[in-house]
Amino acid sequence: MNYQKHYENSLSHPISFWKEKAKAIDWFKFPDTILSKDADELYRWYEGGELNTCYLAIDQHVEAGRGDQVALIYDSPVTNTKRKYTYQNLLEETAKFAGVLKHLGIEKGDCVIIYMPMIPQTVFAMLACARLGAIHSVVFGGFAAHELAIRIDDAKPKVLLVASGGKEIERIVPYKPIVDAAMEEATHQLDACVVYQRPFVKATLQKGRDFDWEALLSKAKPANYVPVKATDPLYILYTSGTTGQPKGIVRDNGGHAVAMHYSMSDIYGAKKGETFWAASDVGWVVGHSYIVYGPLIYGCPSVLFEGKPIKTPDAGTFFRIIEEYQVKVFFTAPTAFRAIRKEDPKGKLKSKYNTSSLRYLFLAGERTDISTLHWCKALLEVPVIDHWWQTESGYPMIANMTGLGLQPIKEGSAGRVVSGFDIRIVDENGALLPANQEGAVVIKYPLPPGCLPNLWKDTDRFKSSYLSAYSGYYFSGDGGYIDEAGYVFITGRIDDIINVAGHRLSTAEMEEVVAGHPAIAECAVVGIADELKGQIPVGFFVLKAGVTQLESTIEKELIQSVRTTIGPVAAFKRAIQVARLPKTRSGKILRKIMRAIADKKTFNPPSTIEDITVLDELAIIMKEKNIGYLGID
Ligand code: COA
Ligand code: AMP
Repeated sequence: MNYQKHYENSLSHPISFWKEKAKAIDWFKFPDTILSKDADELYRWYEGGELNTCYLAIDQHVEAGRGDQVALIYDSPVTNTKRKYTYQNLLEETAKFAGVLKHLGIEKGDCVIIYMPMIPQTVFAMLACARLGAIHSVVFGGFAAHELAIRIDDAKPKVLLVASGGKEIERIVPYKPIVDAAMEEATHQLDACVVYQRPFVKATLQKGRDFDWEALLSKAKPANYVPVKATDPLYILYTSGTTGQPKGIVRDNGGHAVAMHYSMSDIYGAKKGETFWAASDVGWVVGHSYIVYGPLIYGCPSVLFEGKPIKTPDAGTFFRIIEEYQVKVFFTAPTAFRAIRKEDPKGKLKSKYNTSSLRYLFLAGERTDISTLHWCKALLEVPVIDHWWQTESGYPMIANMTGLGLQPIKEGSAGRVVSGFDIRIVDENGALLPANQEGAVVIKYPLPPGCLPNLWKDTDRFKSSYLSAYSGYYFSGDGGYIDEAGYVFITGRIDDIINVAGHRLSTAEMEEVVAGHPAIAECAVVGIADELKGQIPVGFFVLKAGVTQLESTIEKELIQSVRTTIGPVAAFKRAIQVARLPKTRSGKILRKIMRAIADKKTFNPPSTIEDITVLDELAIIMKEKNIGYLGID
């Protein structure tokens, strides 16, 4: 079926469309209803259905005689390790680790936090939770103790799983001290902490609370999969919101499994048995969907890469992996290729490898800038496909549905709307806008299966964050426009969320830290354009009267406290002292205008601005301090 017909059918007959898609996965009990509403008046997919996500990812393949096929390829240039796991290997490892969790008292509905790097044990742990019907919440290793503590208090896990450390190129990052500090800070008390010791960094265990992973494993009995309801949660993944409190995005089992299968075939155009590689991290949604669940459920070997696009050992690593594992579909963030291009502008390292296995390169996490798109296309000689999605959706909402036949690519656009999503552009009053007019990107509610049904134990925030701004629509937080041919152009966040090296971060969270400095009267953190990372946060602060501390000292202290409170992933490296901040007469800081000044974009100051001359002052300071896009006019 061609894209247009497929898309129209998905919107005109959503129930039969999603019933058909649900048939592609193996249910223990097929759902009674396809779409219904819960007690909070929120839509739910596949009520009455029963399944197990771990069964779909592993057991079904073994039962079908595919036990000897490769399921997971671990490639770790930072530890010089390579290992392949078949579905049979994965079954043994996962069932045994599920036995460990069961022994620790984990049952269906319990929560487990996973704070681990890109190692196979992380995947076993996620799948083991799914096997027992427990809910996992993976926390990205680049977040500091305070962020972990917030998540512990919100998710209220019984058990926390941690590795002794990770490797950031050469730098060893010990994880256990971070976990210890988080457990100290959190109010919620855990029953147990299980530690996977890596050879290059040893963690200290606290008697009675901490357990050695391998020791528990050696005594564990394999545990079987437990049927769960389609509407039961599979995982919680925290993501940045517009306040200091991250949002716990909930993913259910049924809709997610259907969406994973559907997206692997219809969007990514993958064929069973072909190697799929998402060079991301299991701490992000891309890792959940396309390192772990999507490829495994669909039956594609998945690459688990513990390294960076550069320096591990060089900017040729991506190409080496494509050749070595015959990768067919590759997915990463544009920033990764900008990093490669910076190291090796002519792409000379690519010529050492044969990447002809590759069919498509998919890019997401931020808009694909046209120059990166051209560079990748010339180098890899495959279609380079930008596509748009969010932690909330769990899979692409705007893309090129290559499984239905590759559509013409329009540079600068994230593609056309994925079947099942009804995306519109609205103005600030919620009125629909015509083609080519920029506004807020909204999606008709209900969202299709696989998207968040709610926030973890916070229905009010779910409704206020996503559903109340535009009646009948989910508000994405992004701005954009749709052209007359249906291609969507995403122009960036219209809230205070920023994307740094493909990582979603909240400037509000950073502002909380900056404002906590005793010398600071007020501040604003703004995400400004950066050639490598897409955006970087920059802090602007006004000192309290009488403070004599040097600007450079305060800057150093702020950098350090953002790093130790939020984590190195915040990439907060600049803080500038200003005499005052631009504000409206009612006291609202004009962050968008500050960003526009830094990015050298045109803007219209609001008529409510307190004093327009502050804008010139800011422009002068930014120029002096070399802040702003490329630091030049
Ligand atoms: N554990 C501990 N620290 C981590 C970490 C982790 N899992 N991940 C990142 N960090 C640290 C980095 O070491 C860096 O520390 P530094 O300030 O001491 O240098 C800091 O957090 C910022 O990381 P990052 O923004 O990733 O910058 P980088 O310079 O290390 O790497 C790229 C830049 C572009 C190579 C890298 O960000 C990348 O490969 N991005 C791909 C994007 C991606 O995976 N996106 C996910 C969605 S697709
Ligand atoms: P995350 O939830 O971490 O996946 O981040 C989602 C946000 O990243 C979106 O709301 C967008 O702002 C941004 N984003 C992701 N993919 C794209 C893309 N292809 N083009 C533009 N922005 C993107």
